[in-house]
Amino acid sequence: MRTVAAVRAQEINPARLTGLYRREFELCQVKSGETVVVLTDLAARREYVEAAFAAADDLGADIYEICVNAIPSWTKVGVPTVGKCKGTLDAIRQADILVCLHIPLFTAWLKEVMNGGTRVLMIIDAPDDLEQLLAPKGLKEAVKHAHGRLAQAREMRILSDAGTDLTVKCGEYPVMSQWGYADEPGHFDHWGGGHVHTFPNEGTANGTVVVQPGDIVVLPYCRYVQDPIRLEIRDGFIRKIEGGLDAKLMNDWLEDNRAHPGDMDGHAVSHLGWGLNPQARWYNIALNGDAPERSHASARTFPGNFLFSTGPNTQGGGKRRTKGHYDVPMRDCTVLLDNATVIERGKFVDPAMIVQRETR
Ligand SMILES: [Fe+2]
Repeated sequence: MRTVAAVRAQEINPARLTGLYRREFELCQVKSGETVVVLTDLAARREYVEAAFAAADDLGADIYEICVNAIPSWTKVGVPTVGKCKGTLDAIRQADILVCLHIPLFTAWLKEVMNGGTRVLMIIDAPDDLEQLLAPKGLKEAVKHAHGRLAQAREMRILSDAGTDLTVKCGEYPVMSQWGYADEPGHFDHWGGGHVHTFPNEGTANGTVVVQPGDIVVLPYCRYVQDPIRLEIRDGFIRKIEGGLDAKLMNDWLEDNRAHPGDMDGHAVSHLGWGLNPQARWYNIALNGDAPERSHASARTFPGNFLFSTGPNTQGGGKRRTKGHYDVPMRDCTVLLDNATVIERGKFVDPAMIVQRETR
C-alpha cells in the first residue's frame, strides 16, 4: 500500500496501465519466448508488477519478479540491491530484459548485467507521466543523432545570458543516451527518457556556472531554484558556491556528503548533457507538484535543457562513488560542441534534434 498522499489525483484509469505497459514492451522488442525479470522492493507499485505481468503474457514472454530487501532512494543511488543474495545476479544475467522498478544506477551489478547483453528498463515515474512521456515517434533517431555529435566532440562549452561560461574537454568517457525504451542488447533505458550525456575528461572542467531562478534542482531536492547560484569551477571541481537560499542548500548537501574533510568527489563536475523528449514539460512541477516520481524523467528530459551535475562518475567508468550528487536541469543555455552551436538559449539549432510532441 502506498502511504504518500498524491498531490494531484491520478488522471489515467489504472485499468489502462496494462495497455500502456504493452506499448512500452513492444517498443522494447519484448518477444514470445523471451524471459523478463521484474526487480522490485517493498515500496514498488504492485499495479506496475501486475501490468508488467499481463503485458508480457499478452506478448508471449515469460516473466517473474525478484523482490529485494533494500529500497534504494533517489538520494541513495548505488545501493547494491542485487548481488548479495545468492543466485539473483545469475538469474538476472540470464534474462533477456530486466524491468527495474527502483534505481539501479551507479551499481557494480548493473554493469555486469548490461555487459552480459541483458536489456535494462527502469520504471520509476508515476502512471500519468508514463503515459505522457512514452517515447514519441522519432525520439530514438533524434537521440542517436545527438549521441553521435556529442561522441565526436572534443570540447563542450556552455554559455548563458546569466553569466554561465563553462568549458570541458570530452572523449575520455563514453557518451550515454536514453530514448525511453530498452530495445538493444545491453542497453539501459528509463521509461520517459530522451537525453544524452557524457562526463568531462578528468580535471578539465573550467569556468563559471550561474544557476538561475526557474532552473530545477531535481536531485537531491525537487524544486525550482529561487535565487541565483554562482559556481566557480576549476580543474574539474567546484571551488566556490555563492548565492542565497539555493546556494546554501547546495553547499550543505555537498558538505554533508563528504566522506572525510578532504573529500572533493561531491564537488566534481559529473555528467553533462541535454534533453530531447518533447513530451516532457519544464512546468511539470508547477503543474503537478514536487513529488519526485512526477519529475524523475520529465525534469531531466524536457527539450533543450542543459543538465548540469556533480558527484559520481562510476556509471561512465570513473572511480567516484560519492553521495554528493546534484542534478540541475538548466534553462536558456547555449551549448557549443567544438565551437559549433547545437543549442541556442535553450532551443535546438540542429533541426535533427527536434522531435514533434504528440498530443495525449
Ligand atoms: Fe545525475
